[in-house]
Amino acid sequence: MAKIVGGIGTTHVPAIGGAIAKGLQRDPYWRPFFDGFAGAHKWLGAVQPDVVVVFYNDHGLNFFLDKMPTFAIGAAGEYRHADEGWGLPVSRPYPGDTALSWHLIEQLVADEFDVTMCQEMLVDHAFTIPLALLWPERSAVRTVPIAINTVQHPLPSPARCLRLGRAIGRAIESYKADLKVLIVGTGGLSHQLDGKRAGFINKEFDLMCMEKLVSDPDRLARYSSLQIVEEAGSQGVELLNWIAMRGALTGDVSRVHGNYHIPISNTASALLVMENRALELATTYRKAG
Ligand code: DHB
Ligand code: FE
Repeated sequence: MAKIVGGIGTTHVPAIGGAIAKGLQRDPYWRPFFDGFAGAHKWLGAVQPDVVVVFYNDHGLNFFLDKMPTFAIGAAGEYRHADEGWGLPVSRPYPGDTALSWHLIEQLVADEFDVTMCQEMLVDHAFTIPLALLWPERSAVRTVPIAINTVQHPLPSPARCLRLGRAIGRAIESYKADLKVLIVGTGGLSHQLDGKRAGFINKEFDLMCMEKLVSDPDRLARYSSLQIVEEAGSQGVELLNWIAMRGALTGDVSRVHGNYHIPISNTASALLVMENRALELATTYRKAG
C-alpha cells in the first residue's frame, strides 16, 4: 500500500529561480535562505520518496481570472513549465503519475470534492521553484500537482483546504501500489505584493502558523480566508497550500527541520519539514476488527 512519508512547506518566490540560474547560493543575501535547505536534503536522501503531491497556486500561467477552479488536479503524463515573464529559465517538464492521479480524483469525487481534472496542465513557479529547491540535482520523482485558488476571491476556507488535504491523505492510503509519497505545500509565508500594504510581513503570525501546522492544524482552520489575508497579506494567503499539505499527513506528525528568513524578495520565506509516521496501533486495531 502507498505510504505518506511526510510533508514539506516551502516558499516559492520566483527570484529564487534567478538566484539558482546565476549560481548565487553562497551570496550573502541568499546564503541564509539556501543553507536552510540542507536539513531537507538530508531527510529526503534518507526517505527517498517515489512520488510528490504538490499543493500550490497557479498565478496566471495555466488558469486566468476568467476561469478559475477552486481545486484543480493534474492527470497528465508530464507537466510543462513555460515563460511566465519573470525572466527565469523555463524548467524541463516534470513526469506525472497518471494512475495515482486518477485514483485521487476518483476518491476525491466520491468524498464530495468536485475537483477540476486536468489532462493537460502547465505548472508555474509555485510548482517548479519548490521542486528545484528540494532536489537541486533534479530527481526522477513523479509528481501530482493540485492547484488551490488563492488568487481570485472568493477563496476556499482554511477549514475546507484542511479537509481537502485529509481527503487526499485517505485516498493515498487506499492506493494499492507500494509507493512512498511526499506531500508539498508551497508559497507564503506572510507577504503582500501590491496595494497600500505592499511589503507587509507578520513574523509573529508566521511563527505561530509554523508551530500549529505541526501540533494543531485545526487551530488554523478556525480562521476565515479573509482573516488570513489580514494577518498574512493578500499573497500570504498562500498559507492555504500549507494547510492542505498538513491535512494529508494522517499519522503521528513531528517536525524534522525548519527555517524562517526575512526577506526573500517581498516575502517572509519559510521551510518546514514534517515526518509522518503511520498510526500502527490504529491500523492493527482496524485489521483486528
Ligand atoms: C513573490 C512572491 C510570490 O509568492 C510570488 O508568487 C511572486 C513573487 C515575491 O516576493 O517577489
Ligand atoms: Fe506566489
